[in-house]
Amino acid sequence: MKKFNLAVIPGDGIGPEVVAEGLKVLDRVASKYDLSFDKVHYDLGASHWHATGEVLSDETMAEIAKSDVILLGAVGDPTVPSGVLERGLLLKLRFAFDHYINLRPAKLHKGVISPLATTEPIDFIVIREGTEGPYVGAGGNLASGTEHEIAVEESLNTRRGAERVIRFAFEQASSRPRKKLTLVHKNNVLLFAGGLWTRTFNEVAKEYPEVSTDYLHVDAASMFFVTHPERFDVVVTDNLFGDIVTDIAAAICGGIGLAASGNINPTRLFPSMFEPVHGSAPDIAGKSLADPTATVMSVAMLLAHLGEHEAAADVERAVASDLLTRGNAKRSTTDIGNALAGAI
Ligand code: IPM
Ligand code: MN
Repeated sequence: MKKFNLAVIPGDGIGPEVVAEGLKVLDRVASKYDLSFDKVHYDLGASHWHATGEVLSDETMAEIAKSDVILLGAVGDPTVPSGVLERGLLLKLRFAFDHYINLRPAKLHKGVISPLATTEPIDFIVIREGTEGPYVGAGGNLASGTEHEIAVEESLNTRRGAERVIRFAFEQASSRPRKKLTLVHKNNVLLFAGGLWTRTFNEVAKEYPEVSTDYLHVDAASMFFVTHPERFDVVVTDNLFGDIVTDIAAAICGGIGLAASGNINPTRLFPSMFEPVHGSAPDIAGKSLADPTATVMSVAMLLAHLGEHEAAADVERAVASDLLTRGNAKRSTTDIGNALAGAI
């Protein structure tokens, strides 16, 4: 039996509901493949903040750091000022564990209705940089609340940061049948950061002659996600552009209820973290209305990251066959979780 330590952070809103179903599927697949997950639940998020005034202490961070992998539900709550939980919990984990790969597959499964009229297959992955850009929190306000107020929000881009995510993207592209990689940026306006990304991309490209490359400005890429999604195979982009275009990617593939993601540190010096792309959806929390599929697919990514490819494929198969026959049937969060677990 192979043993893994799993940190579970259900978080806010619908997080606990979808994570419960994700774990249901994980337990099932674990027993089938003789895997054992030693789970530690961390009660972090809005209620912890209200009760203690802290979001995520260094002691808790140190404990989570000892796990092999993390499953996260959702972060964010209307009773907490915007940014407190996002920065103090989600981004703290991404930055501290150096999750420089934010991997977000965009696949339109058979049986799922896309808002697009296209009949072409949609099957690409977005590799979003996870530790730099405007997310670093470098900036501030001067003369706050006055008519002279100044806000600065700097975008940090390092050669090393761009190169490592671009290299990972070339590796991914090279291992896929189409071997196509698109860099998305805005190098006609963001001359400094865009220049660094473009030069780095072109240099690394020389090491991967088998990969065909393309460049799109982020505005045009957003349009092509909607008009010609079939042209994409692997997309690499910075943190903020990646945040935006992956919501578009999720939407065209049937909505964020189906979009999974991995915050990955390929060096394995720190645990990687898997989470649905959707947020905490406080309006539907506690009603068993949330679709746990994105969390279950995140569990598949988690298994693949641990090298458990058969188990991962089993979960993917269960999801694919459920999506095929799902139609418009109204099912609760637990109904879907039970069906997926039952299909393992
Ligand atoms: C995401 C989310 C987060 C992000 C927020 C909640 C900080 O939108 O994972 O895409 O911007 O990265
Ligand atoms: Mn987002």
